[in-house]
Amino acid sequence: MTPGLLISFEGSEGCGKSTQIQRLRARLENAGRTVLMLREPGGTLIGEHIRTLLQHTPEAAALSPEAELLLFAASRAQLVREKIRPSLDAGNVVVLDRFLDSTTVYQGIARGLPLDSVHAINHFAVGGTLPHLTIVLDMSASAAWERIRASGRELDRMESEPLEFFEKVRQGYLHLAVEQPDRMVVLDAAQSPEAIETQIWKLVEDRCHALQS
Ligand code: TMP
Repeated sequence: MTPGLLISFEGSEGCGKSTQIQRLRARLENAGRTVLMLREPGGTLIGEHIRTLLQHTPEAAALSPEAELLLFAASRAQLVREKIRPSLDAGNVVVLDRFLDSTTVYQGIARGLPLDSVHAINHFAVGGTLPHLTIVLDMSASAAWERIRASGRELDRMESEPLEFFEKVRQGYLHLAVEQPDRMVVLDAAQSPEAIETQIWKLVEDRCHALQS
């Protein structure tokens, strides 16, 4: 059987993750693969409740950073067991819109929670299920900031953070990618969507071949 493949996408808000995830899905399906796309927080009934709580309720303004971290971890723990592992076991490709690196970067680096606790909670939540490939779409903090504000929609809690927060997020991802070069690849999100799509497809094909050999 074809081995399952777990790919996560990371980057700040407004970096173009959704476009690239859709394009990758189309390419994978054209190549005959079954694809499961999931977003975090969310992806399960429990996770979607947590997403609503975190992003769209006025009470969330009172969340402590610690409680916020645990809610993201709870959503992920459910997602791994209910959706990700069964799908990988069936030989599918699972494409994640954010995974544990978001917690390390947003709650650990940007919110400043102790990184050793963040890593321990992350690892407890995923229980050894790590992406084969993580694509970081890198964009300057000010470009991300302006893109979100230009969208004209109502901003969620994280999107309303000041520019410095976005700068920490960006630097956090770049730092993680240097630490974990085998898993994480940084692509310049300022390139054309077509150029990014081509680079992502090459990375995914290489990973598939490596897993099959
Ligand atoms: P988005 O994926 O729709 O952009 O929204 C998810 C938001 O939640 C985004 O602002 C990043 C944030 N987030 C965290 O702070 N920690 C996490 O672990 C995850 C998955 C997301």
